Amino acid sequence: MALCAALAAGAISPPHALAELARGLGGGGGAPAASPPSLAGLDALVGLGRVKALVREVLAFAAIQERRRAAGLKAEPVVLHMVFSGNPGTGKTTVARILGAVLCEAGLLPRGHVVEVERADLVGEYIGHTAQKAREQVRAAQGGILFVDEAYSLARGGERDFGKEAIDTLVKAMEDRKHDLVIILAGYRDEMQAFLGVNPGLRSRFPIHIDFPDYTPDELLDIAGVMLVARDYRLAPAARAALAAALRAAGRGAGAPPGGPPGNARMVRNLVEAAIRRQALRLAARPACGREELVVMEAADLDLHEITAAAQPAAGAGSAPRREVPPDVALALRQLWDTATGAVQH
Ligand SMILES: Nc1ncnc2c1ncn2[C@@H]1O[C@H](COP(=O)(O)OP(=O)(O)OP(=O)(O)O)[C@@H](O)[C@H]1O
Ligand SMILES: [Mg+2]
Repeated sequence: MALCAALAAGAISPPHALAELARGLGGGGGAPAASPPSLAGLDALVGLGRVKALVREVLAFAAIQERRRAAGLKAEPVVLHMVFSGNPGTGKTTVARILGAVLCEAGLLPRGHVVEVERADLVGEYIGHTAQKAREQVRAAQGGILFVDEAYSLARGGERDFGKEAIDTLVKAMEDRKHDLVIILAGYRDEMQAFLGVNPGLRSRFPIHIDFPDYTPDELLDIAGVMLVARDYRLAPAARAALAAALRAAGRGAGAPPGGPPGNARMVRNLVEAAIRRQALRLAARPACGREELVVMEAADLDLHEITAAAQPAAGAGSAPRREVPPDVALALRQLWDTATGAVQH
């Protein structure tokens, strides 16, 4: 946040910050500078190649428009309102939080904090209440990002619903505060498309659309590894193999139809948190244990049922098609699981 702090303190001007940022993006002359810290945070996320590339494109665009302006050339307006669409747990909220700092470091936002809201935070219960609630949230987000989760729910009740009033208040805020507020509308892909489809005026006001794809099984495995390492844990080889097999079996292998296990990285986080509790239970039964045992997650610590269950077609499941685990894969998985957990217990 060095650039951001310098900006906030008035030590450097926004054009200077943008020039620094352009150098970090490889756009400046001479030796390329290291990525600014918050961009490095974005890069550290597993996968999301297209998302990372698009963020760099947006920053480069903003930096070059500033340089063109400084050179007396025509410059395009820099409008940074965005739509994030993707399934649950694909990293939309995580990226928005990092983006606040990224845009601040680039001099594109003065504070860069992120205010996360959903329908209930914006929509009131009587005439006038909605505008007041929405304005309060806009005020709180001033200088940073207003992240509207499940934004399509604002259109839920149609024309007569107070959600429409919330949308109107947000649109007005976008006009009034274009230099110090970025609004991000987030939600599932189909719902967001439908939402923008019935609000054509909105679509044009949100020029940046970022699609968050489902993670591949290998990416989910890496995410589990990253989450564990961040907490000073590590997967034992057998645990890693069991998790990899479960993730692949859950309909996410090459050629599998879209819509594997619901929850993506969120499901992995739940698994990691549950594994930490299960490992604790396993170790607490012993009179003592060494440092290595405190660190290593065995296959028995992983509750893979949520992942394998996700591979079964759920009765009355949502829109995403689910692939049934072929019997031979299920059997292989069961054997792998039994061997791995048996190996730990004996
Ligand atoms: N690429 C990634 N690398 C590491 N961790 C990730 C990644 N993407 C998501 N996570 C982690 O997974 C969890 C869920 O991510 P996040 O909340 O950003 O998803 P989301 O798309 O906002 O989901 P929802 O639509 O349900 O709100 C968080 O704990 C986040 O830190
Ligand atoms: Mg979210």
